[in-house]
Amino acid sequence: PLPKRYAVQLPIPSVLQPTRTDGTTDYYKITARPGLAHLVPGHDTEVWGYQGMFPGPTIESRSGRRTVVTHRNELPHPTVVHLHGGHTPHESDGYPMDQTAPLGGGTGGPGASSMAGMAGMDPAAVQRERVYDYPMNQRAATLWYHDHTMGFTGPHVYRGLAGFHLVRDDEEASLGLPHGPRELPLMIADRSFAADGSFACPALDASEVKPGVQAAYMNGVLGDVILVNGAPWPVAPVDRARYRLRILNASNARRYRLELDPQPPGGGGLLQIGSDGGLLERPVAHDAIELAPAERFDLVVDFARYPVGSSVRLVNRLGSGGTAEVMRFDISSASVSDDSRAPGGTLAKVEKLDPAKAVAARTFVFQKSQDNWTINGQDYKPGRSLAMPKLGQVEIWRFVTDFHHPVHLHLDPFQVVSRNAAAPGAFDAGWKDTVDVLPAQGVEVAVRFTDYAGRFLLHCHNLEHEDMAMMAEFTTAQ
Ligand code: C2O
Ligand code: CU
Repeated sequence: PLPKRYAVQLPIPSVLQPTRTDGTTDYYKITARPGLAHLVPGHDTEVWGYQGMFPGPTIESRSGRRTVVTHRNELPHPTVVHLHGGHTPHESDGYPMDQTAPLGGGTGGPGASSMAGMAGMDPAAVQRERVYDYPMNQRAATLWYHDHTMGFTGPHVYRGLAGFHLVRDDEEASLGLPHGPRELPLMIADRSFAADGSFACPALDASEVKPGVQAAYMNGVLGDVILVNGAPWPVAPVDRARYRLRILNASNARRYRLELDPQPPGGGGLLQIGSDGGLLERPVAHDAIELAPAERFDLVVDFARYPVGSSVRLVNRLGSGGTAEVMRFDISSASVSDDSRAPGGTLAKVEKLDPAKAVAARTFVFQKSQDNWTINGQDYKPGRSLAMPKLGQVEIWRFVTDFHHPVHLHLDPFQVVSRNAAAPGAFDAGWKDTVDVLPAQGVEVAVRFTDYAGRFLLHCHNLEHEDMAMMAEFTTAQ
């Protein structure tokens, strides 16, 4: 059963209210549990969601204001939560072994105990709740939180364990960007459905003892239905005014090339103001943007450039049939005022990391092995570090690939220095935490880790590759 296109209105995930706040900190509580979604005609689909919802509720933080989230697990499997793009100490970063035990599972399911055993952890130390403490000493940006369980991130995110976490600051607030109902977070993800309406997730082992997917899906799981904020091919009614679209590719493996159809007169309809790590120095006008899994684009689209009462689709030029369509904007005929300012000139101060100051250069080769995906020829092994960068110093990290690999670093964002020894690409601007490395490319980034000493991850954000061992650790030190 396939959902109908353009039959439902775009849902906006609700903003979670803190359970308490004090002078420095906002405290939240989130429970991961099963829930029901109505996605295909005549069926309910079970999702695994934060608060039982897919996407989970949005958290909004003020830059510099500590955010503490107690995550409780009421799912039948162990879970871990990672704040993607967060500048977070190791203890709260969602290290894949820091698992929260499932409901009724005591010390955790088979996954938890075997994984805990593997890392030499005491299974009894595995808790049902975990407190994630985020200092939030970072600039305004579109972050997201998602599952990061050792070996099972792919199926967990596929079932729905993902939500937005927006960081705001004064620099951004001074720009007069579209806000309130004219600021739309858009989480794009593809899914397939089984005949009974359930998510068709080709996991190798539904009981989650053995990670990975069926051989045919080793390159990554692709669906034939495009969901935006959990709704299939939704429609958003919009005013003839500027909108801020915070686009996140939360797909397990699918890449998109997004375009407005029709393009507004004169083109350049997608005005990029930010990337993974927040605002760009100045806006960049695109006709199309390409996003690999986990990448974010912060855009301003001015629907006043379109005729009254017209419709504009957001399409995917890398898809075909249903996957070539994403969502539709229906422009109202009412005349409205627009209190936002057109982004122009300088948006934000962006420090440029100087590659000439780099104290080290390291190469990471992302490659398929016989039955896994590897980095520098190694399967992921908890506790083994491939690099020991010093805090506060610039390094050049070079990612070399065989296939498409969206490469993601935890702890700090980076800046793309070159692609195949040439200038960075059209979609590489600004602070990034995930870079879309194309097949047989070498991409160099400048990175400087700061503040937190400890173990962090570097991995491919194609979630099937990640689960099939394309992950590594680096250890930062003073
Ligand atoms: Cu979005 Cu290590 O993950
Ligand atoms: Cu990959």
